[in-house]
Formats: sequence, structure tokens, C-alpha cells
Amino acid sequence: MKTVILIGANGKMGQAALTGLGKHRVITASRSGEGVDYKVDITDKNSIQELYKKVGSFNAVVNTVGVCEYAPFESMTSEQWDTTIQSKLVGQINLVSVGLQYIEDGGSFTLISGILNMKPIPFAIADATTSGAIDTFVKCVAHELPRGIRINVVNPTVLEEAWHVYGEMMPGFQPVPSVLVGKAFERSVDGFISGEVIFVDA
Ligand SMILES: NC(=O)c1ccc[n+]([C@@H]2O[C@H](COP(=O)([O-])OP(=O)(O)OC[C@H]3O[C@@H](n4cnc5c(N)ncnc54)[C@H](OP(=O)(O)O)[C@@H]3O)[C@@H](O)[C@H]2O)c1
Repeated sequence: MKTVILIGANGKMGQAALTGLGKHRVITASRSGEGVDYKVDITDKNSIQELYKKVGSFNAVVNTVGVCEYAPFESMTSEQWDTTIQSKLVGQINLVSVGLQYIEDGGSFTLISGILNMKPIPFAIADATTSGAIDTFVKCVAHELPRGIRINVVNPTVLEEAWHVYGEMMPGFQPVPSVLVGKAFERSVDGFISGEVIFVDA
């Protein structure tokens, strides 16, 4: 059994990840702190550090947080770009850079991206751009991680459980069940792969 920190646990993707972590001691965290073990803001390095210090020893970090702003490219404001970049890109990178000081030998990080960098749709340029950047970050930084530490990213299509929110924006897409996406998180945490983008698409 591993100790796994799951960030964004009450979100739709967090619940999907949870289905693949049943073997483990899962410590949950999110921005509001409601219904989870710890409060954390992934856009704040100090908050990330506090979380890791409070948890103490852990073997894996699974992040399912990445707030994205949606708008047509021509009307995207600097603030909308910044919100997305600070959460989905810089926040996730900081979870790894700060986490390296605390995670056990042989531990793993699993991040979140999303299929829109491979299959673009209108309004989603910020999500697509940061998802592509996170996929690249994971593939490349894996070569630099010390102490047998691994890193992967899950790049899923839309969840069946979120189809009522995003379905209208995504004609021609086939949603996948959360439990299938949970398997991708399980493969990252319990397998030996590193530097991989684990696509879950229908
Ligand atoms: N849903 C899908 O079908 C789908 C498919 C592919 C990719 N994705 C990607 O998965 C990610 C999560 O999507 P979702 O649908 O699960 O969103 P969601 O249901 O809105 O959940 C978001 C979660 O993130 C937490 N959160 C937000 N900002 C935070 C911060 N700064 N620090 C810590 N926690 C924070 C929220 O915590 P509180 O509730 O405490 O505020 C909540 O638990 C996004 O990047 C999205 O692009 C989603």
C-alpha cells in the first residue's frame, strides 16, 4: 500500500482518479478544503509546501486540478490566459518541483492534461495550449528526476460524468466512463512507466 496525495479529489477528474487508487491510503486535498483532508492552492508555492510538510511521508502525488478559461482566441484576455497558465501549467510544475524535496525514493507524480491539444475545439485554446505544454513537460522532465522518481500525465477525453457540461461544445466526441480514466491513473501510480502521456480516448 502506498500513501497517495490526491489533489482536486472532489472534482469530476478527482473522482475518476479515485476509482483507480483503491489499493492505497489516499490523502485528499483541494482549494476549498471542503470534504477533503487538507486545503491547498496549487497556484501558491507556499501552500503546496505546507501540504507536503503536513502530510509527511508519501509515495505518490496525483493532481487532477487545472482550471481553464474558455473563450474564442480573439477575445481571450490576458487575465484569462494567466488564470489558465498559473493553474494548469505553473501550478502543476510547482507540485513537482516542490514535491521533489518531500516525496519518498521511487515515488511518482501523475499530472492532468486533456485531449483538446490533440483534438481542438472552439473556445478551448487555453486548455489546449497548457495541456500540450504539460504533456511536453512530463515527457522531458522525466529524464531529470532523481532517486527513481517517476512522472506521467493522464490525457483523457471528456468524462461521461461531465458530458452534460461539455457535450454541446464537443460534437463528434465520444465520452468515456470515469472508471476507464481511473485505470490510467492506476497504471501511472502502480506501474513502472515514466515520462508517458497516457491517453484515454474512445
Ligand atoms: N471533466 C472532464 O471530462 C475532463 C476531461 C479531460 C480533462 N479534464 C481536465 O481535468 C481537470 C479537472 O477538471 P474537472 O472536470 O475535474 O474540474 P472540476 O470538477 O471543476 O473540479 C476541479 C477541482 O479542482 C479544485 N481546485 C480548483 N482550483 C484549485 C487550486 N488552485 N488548488 C487546489 N485545488 C483547486 C477544486 O477544489 P474545490 O472544489 O475545493 O474548489 C475541485 O476539486 C481540468 O484541467 C480539465 O481540463 C477534465
